[in-house]
Amino acid sequence: MKFFLDTANLEQIRAAHDMGLLDGVTTNPSLVARENMDFKTLVGEICRITSGPVSAEVLSTETAGMVEEALALSKIAENVVIKLPTIPDGLKACVQLRERGVAINMTLCFQPNQALCIAKAGATYCSPFLGRLDDIGHDGMDLIPIIRQIYDNYGFDTQILAASLRHPLHVVQAAMAGADVATMPYNVFEKMLNHPLTDIGLERFISDFKKAQK
Ligand code: G3P
Repeated sequence: MKFFLDTANLEQIRAAHDMGLLDGVTTNPSLVARENMDFKTLVGEICRITSGPVSAEVLSTETAGMVEEALALSKIAENVVIKLPTIPDGLKACVQLRERGVAINMTLCFQPNQALCIAKAGATYCSPFLGRLDDIGHDGMDLIPIIRQIYDNYGFDTQILAASLRHPLHVVQAAMAGADVATMPYNVFEKMLNHPLTDIGLERFISDFKKAQK
């Protein structure tokens, strides 16, 4: 499973990259707005930290505007992936941009038929938003095995990018259900590495060894 960081924060991206576990980054307009930096400059900086795919989202809601924004964003760096909303105009833009070799991440996917259309449009990534389904009383994770089965039935190579993950159990469940990628906030990434018994065990190993040396 690939790990993407779901943030536009350069410090967090550098920290995960330095650990050697970062495969890519996803951003969205809300995450970019927190950083107080020019959008294209920020995307360029992220692409300088990681050579993995970096998703940058368009703001237009009609096809021609999406394509124009996408082509401009694509010029920032080779690893830029264009994020498009899963609406009819977004799917149309996806088909046009794929014909021009642009990598696409279709975002705001909430149901299996959207995921099927995303794969048929040739997107590189399909991003089901699991936490936001949990927010309205559904079990968002139910989507992953359904999309997995649909994609495997027809040999679609669109990658399932589990998004809107809110806690480490989401990552485990997405991995068990066969998501190709998990994109997570930095706090979830940090929590994945922790267990109190690891800290207690390490402390005991070191103190036992030191005692025996006296
Ligand atoms: O990758 C999707 C993510 O940015 C949305 O997460 O927590 O705002 O639903 P959240």
